[in-house]
Amino acid sequence: MAIQAIKVPDIGGSEGVEVIEISVAVGDVIAQEDSIVVLETDKASMEIPSPAAGKVTAIKVNVGDKVSEGDLLIEVEAEGAAEQEQAAPAAEKPAESAAAPASNTSSATSEAEIPVPDIGGAEGVEVIEISVKVGDEVSEGDSLIVLETDKASMEIPAPFAGKITSISMKVGDKVSQGSVIGVMATAAAGSAPAEPAKAPAAAPAAAATASAEIEVPVPDIGGAEGVEVIEISVKAGDEVGEGDSLIVLETDKASMEIPAPSAGKIVSIALKVGDKVSQGSIIGVMKSEGAAAPAPAKTEAAPAPKAAPAAAASSAAKATEEVVHSGDVYAGPAVRKLARQLGVDLGKVSGSGPRGRLMKDDVRGYVKPIVAAAQSGAPVGGGSGIPRVPAVDFAKFGEIEMLKMSKVKKITADNMTRNWLNVPHVTQWDDADITDMETFRTGLKAEAEKRGSKLTPLPFLLKACAAALRAEPTFNVSLHHDGEHIVQKNYVHIGIAVDTPNGLMVPVIRNVDKKGLWELTDEINAIAKKARDGKLMPADMQGGCFTISSLGAMGGNGFTPIVNAPEVAILGVSKAQIKPVWNGKEFVPRNMLPLSVSYDHRAINGADAGRFFTFLVAAIADVRRLLL
Ligand code: COA
Repeated sequence: MAIQAIKVPDIGGSEGVEVIEISVAVGDVIAQEDSIVVLETDKASMEIPSPAAGKVTAIKVNVGDKVSEGDLLIEVEAEGAAEQEQAAPAAEKPAESAAAPASNTSSATSEAEIPVPDIGGAEGVEVIEISVKVGDEVSEGDSLIVLETDKASMEIPAPFAGKITSISMKVGDKVSQGSVIGVMATAAAGSAPAEPAKAPAAAPAAAATASAEIEVPVPDIGGAEGVEVIEISVKAGDEVGEGDSLIVLETDKASMEIPAPSAGKIVSIALKVGDKVSQGSIIGVMKSEGAAAPAPAKTEAAPAPKAAPAAAASSAAKATEEVVHSGDVYAGPAVRKLARQLGVDLGKVSGSGPRGRLMKDDVRGYVKPIVAAAQSGAPVGGGSGIPRVPAVDFAKFGEIEMLKMSKVKKITADNMTRNWLNVPHVTQWDDADITDMETFRTGLKAEAEKRGSKLTPLPFLLKACAAALRAEPTFNVSLHHDGEHIVQKNYVHIGIAVDTPNGLMVPVIRNVDKKGLWELTDEINAIAKKARDGKLMPADMQGGCFTISSLGAMGGNGFTPIVNAPEVAILGVSKAQIKPVWNGKEFVPRNMLPLSVSYDHRAINGADAGRFFTFLVAAIADVRRLLL
């Protein structure tokens, strides 16, 4: 049988690189250059294309495996080929026509070689995607190839409209300014490709203050203005090494990490996610290691996001049209391209990659149920075939005002609808006697004040829920999307619903079962403040096993909380009240806390829920049980 073993190609000398996505399955028929796997280091992600066409007969790696050059990835049955081993296209081979002049037009044939424009002086930058093929008609500004360094990825746009007549590169090639991408026939004969972008300078010197603290400015980012901050990678107090990522910026063409100009300690951060910055905007202040006035910072040349300015403006406008919602999105160009092709608003897709990065599978997973619903004949958009609420002209009935929904509100609305329609909910109610817990808590109040914190019932509830999740692990699961498995979690991370000016946020407190009351109190206070200040990162809201929604401070006897899928249960907490409770002989006044537990009846049956709730109520009624 003609079996080809496909191995990891040269990946720039990186060792033990994580496999974050497997793009093929056994039985798939793949073409040459189809992506086999996606690898990711802490700085870059790269798709590994297949060097051969054929049928996948075996997959030799799993997601999470660490691989290096030469490791076996898959086996492919290639018709007619002799049994052999082959590495995916080498990553370091320079483009053959690298020496070609930057601009080489031929008006006689109306064809022009398209060179890589000025990419900020970066050399040997990897081609991670060829976005066109021979014969394609492209418009000015359409992406031709995508390049990625360890710091940034960028699309190289067509400098003019025309037809692709040849492509000189392949995925994995390493290119520099002037490397020839291919040849285009232009409608307007002899029209020269756009002027290359000016070379971005090294980062400007950090401005030294008298106290050995330096303000760190955004370096030259290729002249781009008002570039969005999509991630703040550090916080005040963090120690960073030279080159560690401080923030991540993203234009419609490129995302890039801005590295620390030197090693030191972060004193303050002046930016927040969503801010728009340009060269010179202050990222924050850092105390440089050892030096009173540190040497000028020189960042690793972050390639300009605007590789070909002549084309960038028009393509930027186009990208904005196509991807309506691009704010707060953490995704590489290949994922963005897939989203554009499918018409997906990435702002609505949840990222499953490291630090919430959006993966191709996230986009596919988002689209699949919509397509399935459409193919089954159900109207898309109404939600499981439910007719839409008709549009009403409210102004007919009186004065109105149109208030813009925040992004958080829109995402919450989508999540609530999705969870309400997908999860078969059951809700159970019970009251927990918190008389003794409240006596204990009140007794700790002075100590809490001395520690500078406020002790509410919430950390007690977190502890009790963590113990109940350990005692009744059927609550600590998620349904696997393959429909065949249940994911049992051996960790206990609990989300708390926080009411913020922007809307409802659910940050997650990790390893609640391993933390004490004071630690939990401090974490609740810190994370609730972070949420209210709009500073939560996607990672702060991921990985929850269970959620607590406490409306206790606001009042009410009870409510039906909606399960926060993929979790399978949620606790609703209402306002505690003194109630008469029969103790077998007489009614006695007890402080009773109304609780409701909603659960996904696909994962949890009534008996499991009964056991969980009984354990929880007993643990709250006598917190000494949490020591058992
Ligand atoms: N019954 C009676 N009083 C309660 C209570 C309860 N169940 N829960 C809290 N309280 C009291 C607290 O003890 C505190 O009083 P104190 O200062 O006299 O001790 C007061 O109410 C205010 O508590 P709060 O500041 O809200 O702290 P918390 O730890 O209870 O809650 C948050 C913290 C972040 C969860 C809360 O502020 C919040 O945002 N809740 C809204 C959650 C939400 O919107 N859920 C709906 C989702 S659909």
